[in-house]
Amino acid sequence: MTKETEYAIEVDKLTKRYGDLLAVNDISFTVSKGEVFAFLGPNGAGKTTTVEVIETIRTPTSGKVTLLGMDVTKKKHDIVPRIGVLPQGFSSFDRITVRETIQYYSRLFCCMNADIDGLIDLVNLKDKAKEQYKNLSGGLKQRLGIAIALVNDPEVVFLDEPTTGLDPRARHEVWEVLLGLKEKGKTVFLTTHYMEEAELLADTVAIISKGKVIAMGSPGDLIERNANYLALTFKSVDGKVFEILRKMGFEPVLDNHKNVEVRVEHTYDVQKILNAIKDAGALYLGLDIRKPNLEEVFLKLTGEALRENPPEMEPK
Ligand SMILES: Nc1ncnc2c1ncn2[C@@H]1O[C@H](COP(=O)(O)OP(=O)(O)O)[C@@H](O)[C@H]1O
Ligand SMILES: [Mg+2]
Repeated sequence: MTKETEYAIEVDKLTKRYGDLLAVNDISFTVSKGEVFAFLGPNGAGKTTTVEVIETIRTPTSGKVTLLGMDVTKKKHDIVPRIGVLPQGFSSFDRITVRETIQYYSRLFCCMNADIDGLIDLVNLKDKAKEQYKNLSGGLKQRLGIAIALVNDPEVVFLDEPTTGLDPRARHEVWEVLLGLKEKGKTVFLTTHYMEEAELLADTVAIISKGKVIAMGSPGDLIERNANYLALTFKSVDGKVFEILRKMGFEPVLDNHKNVEVRVEHTYDVQKILNAIKDAGALYLGLDIRKPNLEEVFLKLTGEALRENPPEMEPK
């Protein structure tokens, strides 16, 4: 028997070295049952290494990791039937159809009772059920990969960069599928370097950089704690706007499209600024008011940008 815990995953002081390279450096976090947990970080941050330790594929150098209350280094055979995995860069057999592929993997994982049609529906591949793998677009391939990860009806699903290299539309279609998993009550562990993906899907985000978890919380909390301001952009301004803002004590920035951006802490600053501009008879063509996103949180915490377009693009 294993003890029941409220956590699907508990990672305590996990370190993983590859020879001299410290890939994961003393990280701790928990993932609650039923939540979507996103590991957000750039290439090389240590996401796959961490996920593969939790999936029992890699052995930790030190630290303790439990999945559904079971130690991943000791209970591999009990853990594997209860998890589903979409590995980074998933690929399958070129000439096998969607339906045959799901059937193949369900037999391989001894899930003779897998609901093949249900899985095809869940990932929205009904129209493509008879299509060979090689004829699928990148987004369809990833959705097939998600179906395969679900053949054993797992409690915890790991998706390692499920949308990397996909175009925006295909990415949205994968997100729809992931939202469906969340509705079914699965615990989802997602890795990504797309901040909008983490922001949209995750209940909890852990930001990982250079093997360290540097911040963790709900997307809203992370933004509130690390980037608590409003960004105002005045479009096509005349020179006065910039000066007015400076005189009011703000620090406006002018870009080469004659837009002025300024950050304020409170919503009443917005009103104050608009009144001052009106009183001075200054002109601008448009105003955009934006809350910061996780990209800005990452930038603030690491001083580096999260790369939007990774070098490895979608395989043809
Ligand atoms: N099997 C391995 N052997 C040696 N180094 C590795 C291996 N796998 C990953 N690394 C290195 O560990 C670091 C973290 O990699 P990884 O966990 O794949 O990060 P991410 O998934 O965030 O891109 C990188 O510097 C990577 O080159
Ligand atoms: Mg990776």
